[in-house]
Amino acid sequence: MSKEYSPFTPGVPVPIDFFVGRNQELTTLVDKAKASSSGKLQLAFVYGERGIGKSSLCRMTRVIAESQADILGVHVFLGGVVSLPEMARRIFEKFLNESINRPWYEQIRSFLGKHVREVGLFGVNIEFDADKKELNQLVNGFSTALRTLVQQLKDKKGLLIILDDSNGLANLKDFANWLKSLIDEISTSDQPLPLFLVLAGLPERRLQLFQSQPSLMRVFDPIEIKKLSEEETKNFYRQSFSKVGISIKEEELATLWQYSGGYPVLAHEIGDAVFKIDMDNNIDKDDAVRGIVKAAHVIGQKYIEPQVYDAIRSQKYHSILRKLARDPFESQFRKKEIAKDLNESEKKVFDNFLQRMKKLGILKEDKEAGSGAYQFTSDLHYLFIWLQAQGN
Ligand SMILES: Nc1ncnc2c1ncn2[C@@H]1O[C@H](COP(=O)(O)OP(=O)(O)OP(=O)(O)O)[C@@H](O)[C@H]1O
Ligand SMILES: [Mg+2]
Repeated sequence: MSKEYSPFTPGVPVPIDFFVGRNQELTTLVDKAKASSSGKLQLAFVYGERGIGKSSLCRMTRVIAESQADILGVHVFLGGVVSLPEMARRIFEKFLNESINRPWYEQIRSFLGKHVREVGLFGVNIEFDADKKELNQLVNGFSTALRTLVQQLKDKKGLLIILDDSNGLANLKDFANWLKSLIDEISTSDQPLPLFLVLAGLPERRLQLFQSQPSLMRVFDPIEIKKLSEEETKNFYRQSFSKVGISIKEEELATLWQYSGGYPVLAHEIGDAVFKIDMDNNIDKDDAVRGIVKAAHVIGQKYIEPQVYDAIRSQKYHSILRKLARDPFESQFRKKEIAKDLNESEKKVFDNFLQRMKKLGILKEDKEAGSGAYQFTSDLHYLFIWLQAQGN
């Protein structure tokens, strides 16, 4: 039987019905949204590795906050944005687009004045194209603009702004300074502003932002996103397969959990591959194994940078990597211990191998664990190496 609809969504934020886990993080974020609606500014930084589930968590937060706290939320993707006026433009444009067909649309539209245009051949999309001078005014008078907006939105108690993929801005000193003055202005003003501002990005960007403006570190609540647990991952597979009428037994669930390593983006890729291979609505061992091998291939092409991919797959290093990647949950090793298991020709290239892997950013020395200790820098790379090692 051929199937058309996969319940898996590799690479895009997960649909609400398929979201699993993150209970604690969600509670914290939704509580903050509620607290903000009474007029107290709230700030959070959602951070974690690539593909770990930051955007999905933010999206879920918005949905719950909107339904439980009378808040209007926008999830703004700032990939590629490197200037504050463009950031401001996108935020207000998103407010407009999120409000289409909702009762308060005209209130927002009139707030943004004459720069609003309807575009799009296949469905209405609203553009906000204020000129540079006006955008600069919005940047500088950001809190005043938001206050006016909330006052006009009679049905709403507050605003949630999620700035996602803020990686391009995070290394801008201007952005850090802007945030600092915005927060200072709101906190010292007599007029409350019911705002919950959430930034989402990679851990290194968060550090970079705090380095340029250390006092920000104290005000943004850190929400670190980690890998999913065994139970969460298995639930995710149970839920996803059962929604499309496919059965899967505990043994296969355990295999899928192990190979995804609790990494959401891999869980989706593997689920999708297994789903497509299965022909009888019942995931057996053969489907699982074949799906994993196929997924490893897709993951390599989609998520691993080409130079890293080539190095990982090179004949010269492949056998060493196989010896390093023995356990999906153990991405550290000691040089001495690995060396014991290498054959003569592997030993000869081992030092070169370590240098090259370090240079590519795949490995780093783990100084805290003592000399000769190494660690894979990215879980995604490590799990890919592990998947590769299993498939051969
Ligand atoms: N809680 C979850 N339940 C189920 N699937 C999830 C969950 N979180 C993330 N995913 C899935 O994992 C993948 C990556 O998720 P998402 O895009 O949210 O991650 P991200 O951290 O924002 O990634 P990036 O760093 O690339 O922006 C997607 O396929 C998404 O559907
Ligand atoms: Mg994301």
